[in-house]
Amino acid sequence: MSDVEAQKRAAGDAAAQLVESGMVVGLGTGSTAVWFVRALAARKLDVLCVATSSSTQALGEELGLRFGELGETREIDLTVDGADEIGPGLSLIKGGGAALLREKLVWEASRRCVVIADAAKQVNTLGKYPLPIEVVAFGHKTTALRICDALAECDLGVAPRMRVKDGAPVRTDGGNLIYDVACGRIEEPAALASALKSVTGVVDHGLFLDLADLALIGAETGVVTLEP
Ligand code: 5RP
Repeated sequence: MSDVEAQKRAAGDAAAQLVESGMVVGLGTGSTAVWFVRALAARKLDVLCVATSSSTQALGEELGLRFGELGETREIDLTVDGADEIGPGLSLIKGGGAALLREKLVWEASRRCVVIADAAKQVNTLGKYPLPIEVVAFGHKTTALRICDALAECDLGVAPRMRVKDGAPVRTDGGNLIYDVACGRIEEPAALASALKSVTGVVDHGLFLDLADLALIGAETGVVTLEP
C-alpha cells in the first residue's frame, strides 16, 4: 500500500472509532471514505447509515450496513467524508467524485461532520484543486456563461470546464453535470460561494464552509486532529 493510501486508511480507521451503536451515520464518497465504510462495517455496530452516493451505498450494503433515506431517519448524528482540499478554518473543496450535492445535503443534516484525508489535502489557501460546480443539464452552456460572470465579480478571470470522462459528460447521481473551475487561489471563499449560488442553473458548488467540526488527517507521524 502506498504512503498516501496508508494515510487515508489511518484517517478512516480513526473516524470509525467515533461511531457508537444506535447512531445514524452519514457515509461520504471517495477513496478515503471507502476506508471509513470498511472500518465501520468491521465494527459490527448497530447503526443506521445514510449514503452520499449510490457507489457508497452499494459498498455499504455489500459489507452488511443498514441504510435509510435522508429525511426518513431521525437526525444524522455523525457524517464522515473525504475532501479534495482542507483550508483555513476547515473550509473545504469537495466534489472531486461528483457527489457534492448529496454530500452537502447529508452534511447540512448532520449534528457533527468529520472530514478525513491524507496529509497532501491540507492547504493554506483553497483553490489549487479545481472547484466543482453541479449544474442542471438543461441550458448548461448558458449557465456556464453566467458562472463566468459570477467568477469575474470575484476577480477570478477563469472559465469553467465541463467534466468529461471517457469522452462523455460526467453525470451526477441526480443526473446533473459538473463544471470544474481552476481558480488558482480563492481569497474570499464565502463571497465566491454566494456568487455561485445566485446563478440560476447552478445546483450547488464544492465549497463546504463552516460545516466541518473536526478533521482527521493521516500523516507520517500518525493521525493529526484539527478543529476549525
Ligand atoms: C466526492 C468528494 C470526495 O470526498 C473527495 O473527492 C475526496 O476524494 P478522495 O478521498 O478519493 O481523495 O468530495 O465528491
